[in-house]
Amino acid sequence: MKEKIINKPDMVKARNRHSGMPDIVYLEDSASAFLLEYAKDKKYFIRTYGCQANVRDEESMRGMLEGVGFSKVEKEAEADIIILNTCAVRENAEDKVYGEIGNLKGLKQKKKDLIIVLCGCIPEEPEILERILNVYPYVNLIFGTHEVYKLLNFIEYVAKHKERLVAVESKDGEVYEGLPVRRTSSHKAFVNIIYGCNKFCTYCIVPYTRGKERSRRFDDVLLECKELIDQGYKEITLLGQNVNAYGKDLDEGKDFADLLEAVAKLGIPRLRFTTSHPWDFTSKMIDIIAKCDNIMKFIHLPVQSGSDDILKKMGRRYTSKDYINLVNEMKKKISGLGLSTDIIVGFPNESDEDFQKTLDLVDEVKYDSAFTFIYSPRRGTPAAKMEDAIDKETKSRRFKELVKHLEVSVSASSESMVGKIYDVLVDGESKNDDQMLSGYTESNKLVHFKGDISLVGQIIKVKILESHTYSLIGEKVDE
Ligand code: 5AD
Ligand code: SF4
Repeated sequence: MKEKIINKPDMVKARNRHSGMPDIVYLEDSASAFLLEYAKDKKYFIRTYGCQANVRDEESMRGMLEGVGFSKVEKEAEADIIILNTCAVRENAEDKVYGEIGNLKGLKQKKKDLIIVLCGCIPEEPEILERILNVYPYVNLIFGTHEVYKLLNFIEYVAKHKERLVAVESKDGEVYEGLPVRRTSSHKAFVNIIYGCNKFCTYCIVPYTRGKERSRRFDDVLLECKELIDQGYKEITLLGQNVNAYGKDLDEGKDFADLLEAVAKLGIPRLRFTTSHPWDFTSKMIDIIAKCDNIMKFIHLPVQSGSDDILKKMGRRYTSKDYINLVNEMKKKISGLGLSTDIIVGFPNESDEDFQKTLDLVDEVKYDSAFTFIYSPRRGTPAAKMEDAIDKETKSRRFKELVKHLEVSVSASSESMVGKIYDVLVDGESKNDDQMLSGYTESNKLVHFKGDISLVGQIIKVKILESHTYSLIGEKVDE
């Protein structure tokens, strides 16, 4: 297959951070006559891996594709375009994608005009991109996180020229406004408030794949939230790799606390936000969360480790004491607060003492939920060059031990809910039992209960009857 390379990624450029305001680009709706005709009887399949930023990118891509007439299918075999929207945060996420591309080879042989697209974070890593170009010649279109808005132009190019197209530029990135969107849920919505990351934690690939921290203008965020409320949405989650940095790069004199308050005042029943870096979580933010009834009392606050030595090597900018002080202030001011976290086990040369400090912190904070990961070296990050004398067995033993410690507080917090009544936003049928519905409490606990499918999208009262570690069983009660 012939090939056109527009850009390839470059880790030096990906690390660059230019000062100044972000470029904010307001896009106009435009669709070529060619695409409108081409899309008429064509179907697309999309699979997204990784974090909510990718999920929200999928919704933009769906908006663009369906806007010109492509229709969505749930099976790869029925599609004319297959899009893999990838994640590079850990090796296992990467491996899943290789497996998936490998599986598509047979389909491509049967269907010569099938367009296979690889996008998201994986193509942003130079060596991985080369591997994909060499090993999987049947992938037709590869672009990165900065090129999402060009999806339709790229598809038109590939369809017309039958060439492979590669467009992955490493850069600060822009803010694009006005992209179409087709949301996955009709009652819960993600709203981006800040893109990228400037923290450069030493283990993390995200600042390289997603560029500089770029905030959306205050009014643009409010406009999107207002539209969602008018459409009947019940819950908005404000999104960013680090939402606390919101507004620092703009000249509007507004910070994340101001934004939270302004969105809350619009009157959305439930307002959430993720993710918060402990380093720039201010007392002003805590006070706003405590004050506004419709801001959910749930904070995801990744700690990563309880050892000051490891936190320093991770480049996290806080000590375990700073973190505990922050948590104590949150718990004191916000009643009924649910806390969750991310923890990495097995960072290079993490000693038994370091790990014990993580266990001690976990026991002290008493999280309501947590995500735990074994450290995975990411090429191009500083931690990947650190020596590591700790073997795999030790890491997986520690991982299991950490999960056990976490389960104590997670179970206790679930158990404490039994017998009480909570507001639950009904999501849909339970994943494992289509006789049951499921939804989340304000503090983000998953509840299963019997009910009519017409309840989906409503906030109802549920009495908790039974608690399991990671979910609850309840029954609907009348208001
Ligand atoms: N290895 C393991 N976990 C990682 N995370 C980020 N990078 C890595 C890595 N290289 C985890 C962090 C982060 C979460 C989204 O993923 O805990 O908070
Ligand atoms: Fe990665 Fe750290 Fe940025 Fe989170 S704050 S995305 S862990 S670099």
